[in-house]
Amino acid sequence: MNKIILTGDRPTGKLHIGHYVGSLRRRVELQNSGLYDKIFVFEADAQALTDNIENPEKVRQNVIEVALDYLAAGLDPSKTTLFIQSQIPELCELSFYFMDLVSVSRLQRNPTVKTEIQMRGFSGESIPVGFFTYPISQAADIAMFKATTVPAGDDQEPMLEQCREIVRRFNNIYGETLVEPNILLPENAACLRLPGTDGKAKMSKSLGNCIYLSDSADEVNRKVKTMYTDPEHLQVNDPGHLEGNTVFTYLDAFATDEQVARYTNDYATLQEMKDHYTRGGLGDMKCKKLLMAVLQETLEPIRQRRAEYEKDIPAVYEILRKGCEVARAAACETMDEVRRAMKINYFDDRALIEEQARRFQK
Ligand code: TRP
Repeated sequence: MNKIILTGDRPTGKLHIGHYVGSLRRRVELQNSGLYDKIFVFEADAQALTDNIENPEKVRQNVIEVALDYLAAGLDPSKTTLFIQSQIPELCELSFYFMDLVSVSRLQRNPTVKTEIQMRGFSGESIPVGFFTYPISQAADIAMFKATTVPAGDDQEPMLEQCREIVRRFNNIYGETLVEPNILLPENAACLRLPGTDGKAKMSKSLGNCIYLSDSADEVNRKVKTMYTDPEHLQVNDPGHLEGNTVFTYLDAFATDEQVARYTNDYATLQEMKDHYTRGGLGDMKCKKLLMAVLQETLEPIRQRRAEYEKDIPAVYEILRKGCEVARAAACETMDEVRRAMKINYFDDRALIEEQARRFQK
Protein backbone atom coordinates (compact mmCIF):
# COMPACT_ATOMS: atom_id res chain seq x y z
CA MET A 1 0.00 0.00 0.00
CA ASN A 2 1.13 3.55 -0.72
CA LYS A 3 2.43 5.56 2.20
CA ILE A 4 0.79 8.95 2.06
CA ILE A 5 1.15 11.93 4.36
CA LEU A 6 -1.44 14.63 4.70
CA THR A 7 -1.54 17.45 7.18
CA GLY A 8 -2.42 21.10 7.32
CA ASP A 9 -3.03 24.28 9.27
CA ARG A 10 -5.75 26.86 9.52
CA PRO A 11 -4.44 30.06 7.97
CA THR A 12 -5.43 32.39 10.81
CA GLY A 13 -1.99 33.78 11.61
CA LYS A 14 1.69 33.55 10.81
CA LEU A 15 3.32 30.34 12.00
CA HIS A 16 5.44 30.44 15.18
CA ILE A 17 8.14 28.23 16.64
CA GLY A 18 5.46 26.18 18.40
CA HIS A 19 4.17 25.15 14.98
CA TYR A 20 7.74 24.51 13.93
CA VAL A 21 8.69 22.03 16.66
CA GLY A 22 5.15 20.66 16.88
CA SER A 23 4.83 19.72 13.25
CA LEU A 24 6.61 21.73 10.59
CA ARG A 25 10.14 20.49 11.33
CA ARG A 26 8.92 16.89 11.25
CA ARG A 27 7.12 17.44 7.94
CA VAL A 28 10.32 18.62 6.33
CA GLU A 29 12.20 15.59 7.69
CA LEU A 30 9.49 13.25 6.41
CA GLN A 31 9.54 14.98 3.05
CA ASN A 32 13.28 14.52 2.78
CA SER A 33 13.28 10.95 4.12
CA GLY A 34 12.12 9.56 0.78
CA LEU A 35 9.98 7.03 2.68
CA TYR A 36 6.64 8.35 1.50
CA ASP A 37 4.98 7.99 -1.88
CA LYS A 38 3.07 11.25 -1.62
CA ILE A 39 3.01 14.21 0.73
CA PHE A 40 0.18 16.73 0.89
CA VAL A 41 0.33 19.84 3.08
CA PHE A 42 -2.62 22.17 2.86
CA GLU A 43 -4.11 25.34 4.22
CA ALA A 44 -7.48 24.66 5.81
CA ASP A 45 -9.00 27.99 4.84
CA ALA A 46 -12.55 26.67 4.66
CA GLN A 47 -12.15 25.24 8.16
CA ALA A 48 -10.69 28.56 9.34
CA LEU A 49 -13.81 30.27 8.05
CA THR A 50 -16.03 28.07 10.23
CA ASP A 51 -15.03 30.20 13.19
CA ASN A 52 -14.01 33.40 11.40
CA ILE A 53 -17.31 33.77 9.61
CA GLU A 54 -17.25 37.55 9.63
CA ASN A 55 -13.55 37.89 9.07
CA PRO A 56 -12.76 36.49 5.61
CA GLU A 57 -10.07 39.12 5.07
CA LYS A 58 -8.02 37.68 7.95
CA VAL A 59 -8.03 34.26 6.32
CA ARG A 60 -7.25 35.71 2.89
CA GLN A 61 -4.24 37.65 4.23
CA ASN A 62 -2.86 34.68 6.11
CA VAL A 63 -3.01 32.23 3.22
CA ILE A 64 0.10 33.83 1.71
CA GLU A 65 1.81 34.23 5.12
CA VAL A 66 1.43 30.54 5.88
CA ALA A 67 2.53 29.57 2.36
CA LEU A 68 5.70 31.63 2.89
CA ASP A 69 6.24 30.00 6.28
CA TYR A 70 5.88 26.54 4.70
CA LEU A 71 8.36 27.27 1.96
CA ALA A 72 10.73 29.04 4.33
CA ALA A 73 10.71 26.09 6.72
CA GLY A 74 11.88 23.86 3.87
CA LEU A 75 8.78 22.33 2.36
CA ASP A 76 9.77 21.82 -1.25
CA PRO A 77 7.00 22.09 -3.84
CA SER A 78 8.81 19.60 -6.08
CA LYS A 79 8.39 16.96 -3.34
CA THR A 80 5.34 18.12 -1.39
CA THR A 81 1.99 19.13 -2.82
CA LEU A 82 1.01 22.43 -1.20
CA PHE A 83 -2.65 23.31 -1.70
CA ILE A 84 -5.63 25.24 -0.40
CA GLN A 85 -8.66 23.42 0.94
CA SER A 86 -11.36 25.67 -0.54
CA GLN A 87 -10.06 25.07 -4.06
CA ILE A 88 -10.94 21.38 -3.93
CA PRO A 89 -14.75 21.30 -4.26
CA GLU A 90 -14.71 17.49 -4.08
CA LEU A 91 -14.02 17.91 -0.36
CA CYS A 92 -17.52 19.34 0.07
CA GLU A 93 -18.94 16.44 -1.86
CA LEU A 94 -17.25 13.81 0.30
CA SER A 95 -18.19 15.70 3.49
CA PHE A 96 -21.82 15.62 2.38
CA TYR A 97 -21.78 11.82 2.12
CA PHE A 98 -19.81 11.47 5.34
CA MET A 99 -22.57 13.39 7.13
CA ASP A 100 -24.79 10.33 6.69
CA LEU A 101 -22.34 8.29 8.74
CA VAL A 102 -22.11 10.42 11.91
CA SER A 103 -24.68 11.12 14.60
CA VAL A 104 -25.20 14.45 16.37
CA SER A 105 -24.37 12.86 19.71
CA ARG A 106 -21.10 11.47 18.35
CA LEU A 107 -20.10 14.96 17.25
CA GLN A 108 -21.09 16.39 20.62
CA ARG A 109 -18.82 13.86 22.28
CA ASN A 110 -15.78 14.92 20.24
CA PRO A 111 -13.55 16.46 22.97
CA THR A 112 -12.07 19.04 20.61
CA VAL A 113 -15.52 20.23 19.57
CA LYS A 114 -16.58 20.24 23.22
CA THR A 115 -13.76 22.50 24.39
CA GLU A 116 -13.96 24.74 21.38
CA ILE A 117 -17.68 25.24 21.95
CA GLN A 118 -16.88 26.32 25.51
CA MET A 119 -13.89 28.47 24.50
CA ARG A 120 -15.86 30.37 21.90
CA GLY A 121 -18.83 30.74 24.20
CA PHE A 122 -21.40 29.16 21.91
CA SER A 123 -24.31 28.27 24.12
CA GLY A 124 -26.34 25.19 23.42
CA GLU A 125 -27.76 25.20 19.97
CA SER A 126 -26.49 28.58 18.79
CA ILE A 127 -23.40 26.89 17.40
CA PRO A 128 -23.15 27.25 13.62
CA VAL A 129 -23.74 23.92 11.88
CA GLY A 130 -20.59 24.37 9.80
CA PHE A 131 -18.46 24.74 12.90
CA PHE A 132 -20.18 21.87 14.68
CA THR A 133 -19.57 19.53 11.76
CA TYR A 134 -15.98 20.49 11.00
CA PRO A 135 -14.68 17.14 12.29
CA ILE A 136 -16.62 15.56 9.41
CA SER A 137 -15.08 17.92 6.92
CA GLN A 138 -11.66 17.22 8.41
CA ALA A 139 -12.28 13.48 8.02
CA ALA A 140 -13.00 14.18 4.36
CA ASP A 141 -9.69 16.11 4.05
CA ILE A 142 -7.81 13.09 5.29
CA ALA A 143 -9.79 10.32 3.61
CA MET A 144 -9.88 12.08 0.24
CA PHE A 145 -6.12 11.75 -0.15
CA LYS A 146 -6.02 8.23 1.33
CA ALA A 147 -3.56 9.49 3.93
CA THR A 148 -1.93 6.75 5.96
CA THR A 149 -0.04 9.15 8.20
CA VAL A 150 -1.16 12.48 9.65
CA PRO A 151 1.60 14.34 11.50
CA ALA A 152 -0.17 16.54 14.05
CA GLY A 153 -0.37 17.56 17.70
CA ASP A 154 -2.26 15.51 20.27
CA ASP A 155 -5.12 18.02 20.09
CA GLN A 156 -5.92 16.45 16.71
CA GLU A 157 -6.23 12.93 18.13
CA PRO A 158 -10.04 13.12 18.54
CA MET A 159 -10.30 14.27 14.92
CA LEU A 160 -8.26 11.31 13.73
CA GLU A 161 -10.32 8.92 15.85
CA GLN A 162 -13.50 10.28 14.33
CA CYS A 163 -12.01 10.03 10.84
CA ARG A 164 -11.08 6.38 11.39
CA GLU A 165 -14.62 5.64 12.55
CA ILE A 166 -16.13 7.28 9.49
CA VAL A 167 -13.76 5.47 7.12
CA ARG A 168 -14.48 2.14 8.83
CA ARG A 169 -18.22 2.71 8.57
CA PHE A 170 -17.93 3.77 4.93
CA ASN A 171 -15.90 0.68 4.03
CA ASN A 172 -18.30 -1.60 5.92
CA ILE A 173 -21.33 -0.27 4.10
CA TYR A 174 -19.97 0.41 0.63
CA GLY A 175 -16.99 -1.92 0.42
CA GLU A 176 -13.26 -1.40 0.96
CA THR A 177 -12.59 2.02 -0.61
CA LEU A 178 -10.99 4.45 1.85
CA VAL A 179 -7.97 4.19 4.15
CA GLU A 180 -7.81 4.50 7.95
CA PRO A 181 -5.12 7.04 8.89
CA ASN A 182 -2.70 7.03 11.81
CA ILE A 183 -1.60 10.11 13.71
CA LEU A 184 2.12 10.81 14.01
CA LEU A 185 2.72 12.75 17.23
CA PRO A 186 5.71 15.01 17.95
CA GLU A 187 8.76 13.23 19.32
CA ASN A 188 8.87 14.72 22.82
CA ALA A 189 6.74 16.50 25.41
CA ALA A 190 8.47 19.86 24.89
CA CYS A 191 7.51 19.72 21.22
CA LEU A 192 3.98 18.56 21.85
CA ARG A 193 2.88 21.90 23.18
CA LEU A 194 5.48 24.60 23.34
CA PRO A 195 4.55 27.18 26.01
CA GLY A 196 4.51 30.91 25.30
CA THR A 197 7.52 33.09 26.11
CA ASP A 198 5.59 34.19 29.23
CA GLY A 199 5.38 30.61 30.51
CA LYS A 200 1.66 30.31 29.73
CA ALA A 201 0.58 26.89 28.49
CA LYS A 202 0.16 27.86 24.87
CA MET A 203 1.72 30.18 22.32
CA SER A 204 -1.02 32.32 20.97
CA LYS A 205 -1.26 35.48 19.00
CA SER A 206 -3.86 36.98 21.33
CA LEU A 207 -1.57 36.49 24.35
CA GLY A 208 1.34 38.17 22.55
CA ASN A 209 3.72 35.43 23.68
CA CYS A 210 4.85 34.03 20.33
CA ILE A 211 8.16 33.88 18.55
CA TYR A 212 7.29 33.86 14.86
CA LEU A 213 9.28 32.11 12.17
CA SER A 214 9.32 35.46 10.38
CA ASP A 215 10.63 37.47 13.39
CA SER A 216 13.92 39.29 12.79
CA ALA A 217 17.05 38.20 14.69
CA ASP A 218 16.69 41.26 16.96
CA GLU A 219 13.07 40.50 17.72
CA VAL A 220 13.92 36.91 18.63
CA ASN A 221 16.72 38.03 20.98
CA ARG A 222 14.51 40.65 22.57
CA LYS A 223 11.77 38.09 23.19
CA VAL A 224 14.20 35.55 24.66
CA LYS A 225 15.68 38.17 27.02
CA THR A 226 12.29 38.79 28.60
CA MET A 227 11.35 35.12 28.76
CA TYR A 228 9.80 33.55 31.81
CA THR A 229 12.22 31.33 33.80
CA ASP A 230 12.09 30.27 37.44
CA PRO A 231 10.61 32.93 39.76
CA GLU A 232 12.44 31.39 42.73
CA HIS A 233 15.83 31.60 41.07
CA LEU A 234 16.64 35.11 42.27
CA GLN A 235 20.38 34.87 42.81
CA VAL A 236 22.78 32.98 40.60
CA ASN A 237 23.65 30.66 43.48
CA ASP A 238 20.05 29.76 44.31
CA PRO A 239 19.08 26.29 43.17
CA GLY A 240 16.99 26.59 40.00
CA HIS A 241 13.93 24.68 38.89
CA LEU A 242 13.45 23.17 35.45
CA GLU A 243 9.76 22.40 35.84
CA GLY A 244 7.77 25.11 34.03
CA ASN A 245 10.98 26.92 33.16
CA THR A 246 10.28 28.07 29.64
CA VAL A 247 13.92 28.56 28.67
CA PHE A 248 14.67 24.92 29.40
CA THR A 249 11.50 23.75 27.70
CA TYR A 250 12.63 25.58 24.56
CA LEU A 251 16.13 24.15 24.90
CA ASP A 252 14.57 20.67 25.14
CA ALA A 253 12.66 21.37 21.95
CA PHE A 254 15.48 22.98 19.97
CA ALA A 255 18.98 22.26 21.30
CA THR A 256 21.09 19.24 20.45
CA ASP A 257 23.91 18.21 22.77
CA GLU A 258 26.31 19.05 19.98
CA GLN A 259 25.03 22.63 19.97
CA VAL A 260 25.22 22.87 23.77
CA ALA A 261 28.87 21.79 23.62
CA ARG A 262 29.69 24.09 20.72
CA TYR A 263 28.08 27.23 22.17
CA THR A 264 28.91 26.89 25.89
CA ASN A 265 32.34 25.22 26.15
CA ASP A 266 31.30 24.35 29.72
CA TYR A 267 28.88 21.49 29.12
CA ALA A 268 29.00 18.46 26.86
CA THR A 269 25.25 17.87 27.07
CA LEU A 270 22.05 19.76 27.89
CA GLN A 271 21.66 17.47 30.90
CA GLU A 272 24.97 18.69 32.37
CA MET A 273 23.78 22.25 32.04
CA LYS A 274 20.45 21.39 33.65
CA ASP A 275 22.25 19.72 36.54
CA HIS A 276 24.32 22.84 37.12
CA TYR A 277 21.21 25.00 37.03
CA THR A 278 19.39 22.80 39.55
CA ARG A 279 22.42 22.74 41.90
CA GLY A 280 22.69 26.51 41.75
CA GLY A 281 25.43 28.70 40.36
CA LEU A 282 24.21 29.07 36.80
CA GLY A 283 22.55 32.36 35.87
CA ASP A 284 19.43 32.68 33.68
CA MET A 285 21.19 34.97 31.23
CA LYS A 286 23.71 32.29 30.34
CA CYS A 287 20.91 29.89 29.56
CA LYS A 288 19.13 32.52 27.52
CA LYS A 289 22.34 33.26 25.59
CA LEU A 290 22.52 29.59 24.61
CA LEU A 291 18.86 29.59 23.63
CA MET A 292 19.36 32.68 21.48
CA ALA A 293 22.28 31.07 19.67
CA VAL A 294 20.38 27.86 19.08
CA LEU A 295 17.23 29.64 17.91
CA GLN A 296 19.20 31.85 15.53
CA GLU A 297 20.95 28.83 14.06
CA THR A 298 17.54 27.30 13.32
CA LEU A 299 15.73 30.45 12.25
CA GLU A 300 18.36 32.19 10.14
CA PRO A 301 18.11 29.83 7.14
CA ILE A 302 14.31 30.01 7.43
CA ARG A 303 14.43 33.82 7.39
CA GLN A 304 16.71 33.78 4.37
CA ARG A 305 14.50 31.43 2.39
CA ARG A 306 11.46 33.52 3.31
CA ALA A 307 13.17 36.68 2.06
CA GLU A 308 13.89 34.94 -1.27
CA TYR A 309 10.28 33.85 -1.75
CA GLU A 310 8.99 37.29 -0.69
CA LYS A 311 10.74 38.77 -3.71
CA ASP A 312 8.33 36.98 -6.03
CA ILE A 313 4.91 36.67 -4.43
CA PRO A 314 3.09 35.87 -7.71
CA ALA A 315 5.37 32.84 -8.02
CA VAL A 316 4.27 31.68 -4.57
CA TYR A 317 0.61 31.90 -5.62
CA GLU A 318 1.58 29.94 -8.71
CA ILE A 319 3.09 27.19 -6.52
CA LEU A 320 -0.21 27.00 -4.63
CA ARG A 321 -2.25 27.00 -7.84
CA LYS A 322 -0.22 24.12 -9.28
CA GLY A 323 -0.50 22.27 -5.97
CA CYS A 324 -4.27 22.68 -6.07
CA GLU A 325 -4.31 21.14 -9.55
CA VAL A 326 -2.35 18.10 -8.41
CA ALA A 327 -4.50 17.73 -5.28
CA ARG A 328 -7.67 18.09 -7.28
CA ALA A 329 -6.65 15.34 -9.69
CA ALA A 330 -6.07 13.02 -6.72
CA ALA A 331 -9.42 14.05 -5.21
CA CYS A 332 -11.24 13.34 -8.48
CA GLU A 333 -9.79 9.83 -8.56
CA THR A 334 -10.97 9.11 -5.04
CA MET A 335 -14.42 10.56 -5.77
CA ASP A 336 -14.77 8.28 -8.79
CA GLU A 337 -14.19 5.32 -6.49
CA VAL A 338 -16.51 6.74 -3.84
CA ARG A 339 -19.33 7.28 -6.36
CA ARG A 340 -18.85 3.79 -7.75
CA ALA A 341 -18.90 2.31 -4.23
CA MET A 342 -22.02 4.31 -3.32
CA LYS A 343 -23.73 3.33 -6.57
CA ILE A 344 -24.20 6.89 -7.75
CA ASN A 345 -21.99 6.57 -10.84
CA TYR A 346 -24.93 6.27 -13.23
CA PHE A 347 -23.37 7.51 -16.43
CA ASP A 348 -20.05 5.68 -16.44
CA ASP A 349 -21.67 2.31 -15.77
CA ARG A 350 -22.55 0.78 -19.17
CA ALA A 351 -23.69 -2.44 -17.49
CA LEU A 352 -26.23 -0.56 -15.40
CA ILE A 353 -27.75 1.16 -18.41
CA GLU A 354 -27.95 -2.07 -20.40
CA GLU A 355 -29.43 -3.98 -17.48
CA GLN A 356 -32.10 -1.33 -16.97
CA ALA A 357 -32.82 -1.33 -20.69
CA ARG A 358 -33.39 -5.10 -20.60
CA ARG A 359 -35.57 -4.82 -17.52
CA PHE A 360 -37.92 -2.40 -19.19
CA GLN A 361 -38.03 -4.23 -22.54
CA LYS A 362 -39.64 -7.37 -21.08
N1 TRP B 1 -7.64 21.17 12.45
C1 TRP B 1 -6.31 21.48 12.02
C2 TRP B 1 -5.81 22.69 12.82
O1 TRP B 1 -6.52 23.25 13.60
C3 TRP B 1 -6.22 21.80 10.56
C4 TRP B 1 -6.65 20.66 9.68
C5 TRP B 1 -7.76 20.61 8.88
C6 TRP B 1 -5.99 19.40 9.54
N2 TRP B 1 -7.83 19.45 8.24
C7 TRP B 1 -6.78 18.67 8.61
C8 TRP B 1 -4.84 18.83 10.08
C9 TRP B 1 -6.44 17.39 8.24
C10 TRP B 1 -4.51 17.54 9.72
C11 TRP B 1 -5.29 16.80 8.79
O2 TRP B 1 -4.69 23.11 12.63
